[in-house]
Amino acid sequence: MIDEITAARDAALADIATADSVDAVAAMTTRYAGKKGELSGLKKQLGGLDSIDAKKAAGAAINEAMAAVDTALSTRRDELSAAATAARVEAERLDLTEHLGAPARGRTHLVPQARERLEAVFVGLGFRVAEGPEVETDWHNFEALNMGEGHPARGEFDTLFVDHVPPGGQPGSTLLRTHTSPVQIRTMLEQEPPIYIVAPGRVFRRDTPDATHMPVFHQIEGLVVDRDISMADLAGTIQAFTEQFFGKGWSSRLRPSYFPFTEPSAEFDIQRPDGSWIELGGSGMVHPDVLRAGGIDPEEWSGFAFGFGIDRMALMRHGVDDLRDMYADDLRFIEQF
Ligand code: PHE
Repeated sequence: MIDEITAARDAALADIATADSVDAVAAMTTRYAGKKGELSGLKKQLGGLDSIDAKKAAGAAINEAMAAVDTALSTRRDELSAAATAARVEAERLDLTEHLGAPARGRTHLVPQARERLEAVFVGLGFRVAEGPEVETDWHNFEALNMGEGHPARGEFDTLFVDHVPPGGQPGSTLLRTHTSPVQIRTMLEQEPPIYIVAPGRVFRRDTPDATHMPVFHQIEGLVVDRDISMADLAGTIQAFTEQFFGKGWSSRLRPSYFPFTEPSAEFDIQRPDGSWIELGGSGMVHPDVLRAGGIDPEEWSGFAFGFGIDRMALMRHGVDDLRDMYADDLRFIEQF
């Protein structure tokens, strides 16, 4: 009987070694370790043996054989399920090889790049950076800047109105700011002079996009209010800024002009080292009415203000000829800068 047990065990072990799936192992578990299995069958025959010793010996051999079969079954099951997991992982693996190498790094867009440089230059000249809301009231954007209702200068700002009536307010009195000048008013109402601020930000006009216009663009406003401020301070500040921002060899000039919120007013132009001129923006001495709207006594204080577009300046600096390219989100364009 011992020989039969050994043979049954060896056959079972050999077969288990060939199992090629977890399911096959399950079937073999029934066949070799189950109640109807061969070894169980031999166990039932133990009673037919003659001597106690023979029964003991055969019983021990069956127990050992069954233990060996159990071990073989669970070892094989573990091997096969580990292999199945590995195969599944392999099959589901994502091919990331095209992303190997240095990860693509983002960069600052031309306009924020220009804004940051402008801020740095003005901070270097002693200015503080101020901010105001993009959604403004008619009062801050026009009225307080000396452009009352029906003022013809309002026509130059193609205003986008917002469908919002503030509590106690008038319909049509909320708008997207058409320039950064309302930040002058907000700053004066917020702080006592002396004031030295620049206010960069987004502004909005109902323009059809073309090579030099976008309905959303950026300006930077400057405001100084102090004692004995004169037009010479304005001219000197513009000149200092021009040299620092554009470089040695560039200069600036003021040209008489008109803005309702400054008096006198001037356009300012900058001159390239080759002698050609570029119109940059508007400026002037802050109108006494504007100081008063900001809660400042024009008898005691005076000031100057200026404002210009950031987008066109970035465009000129980099020799880009269509403003729309700046906002088309075409990486081939953007990545050049
Ligand atoms: N806000 C004016 C504009 O958008 C520019 C300006 C600012 C002019 C400050 C004078 C003083 O055209």
